[in-house]
Amino acid sequence: MKILLATHNKNKIIEITHALQGSGHEVLSLDDFPDLPDVIEDGDTLEHNSLKKARELFEYSGITTLADDTGLEVDALNGEPGVYSARWAGEGCTYKDNCDKMLREMKGVPSGKRSAAFRCVITLYGDGILETASGELKGKITESAQGEKGFGYDPVFMPNGYNVTLAEMDLEEKSRISHRGLAVKKMAEIIRHIKP
Ligand code: IMP
Repeated sequence: MKILLATHNKNKIIEITHALQGSGHEVLSLDDFPDLPDVIEDGDTLEHNSLKKARELFEYSGITTLADDTGLEVDALNGEPGVYSARWAGEGCTYKDNCDKMLREMKGVPSGKRSAAFRCVITLYGDGILETASGELKGKITESAQGEKGFGYDPVFMPNGYNVTLAEMDLEEKSRISHRGLAVKKMAEIIRHIKP
């Protein structure tokens, strides 16, 4: 079976392709289909957005599609930015704009109250196929940005049990513990049981 990954993000493509190696399925990404339209992520939950992305791209392409949606939920901000993580600092904002906003919003919040979690929901949608898996990574928001690796909010997020941020970890280590890594692992198990 062919599986279309609903992303252009190189890190995600590497991570998911790696998890599905040996499954007998051929993994493609949006880079292989430049003409497919962008799906508007206007749902108010991660579940809704990942299902919408997977279903619409399957309907356009006819290929079983795997789509993920991730949000960073910060307790001191009542779960914000959550499903709005990508454009939190405004339309067209950069990862740095979002991190700067996070540090501003969390300024003065004591260390015991800086808890946060990344949550990732993955949906696989195809002909007679609808599967979901999720993963979570708990940690805290740092007082300043640290590290150059990764993307998104990685420089301001320190996983529990670590004294480095996600942006200071190698991709392999991040994938092993991350929200998406865990969700992908669960989904890979499900996919392995689907006949190629
Ligand atoms: P997406 O659903 O994976 O596109 O994620 C939405 C937003 O959450 C991204 O634009 C990033 O800002 C953030 N994000 C997603 N995954 C990660 C991650 O692994 N580390 C840091 N930020 C992430």
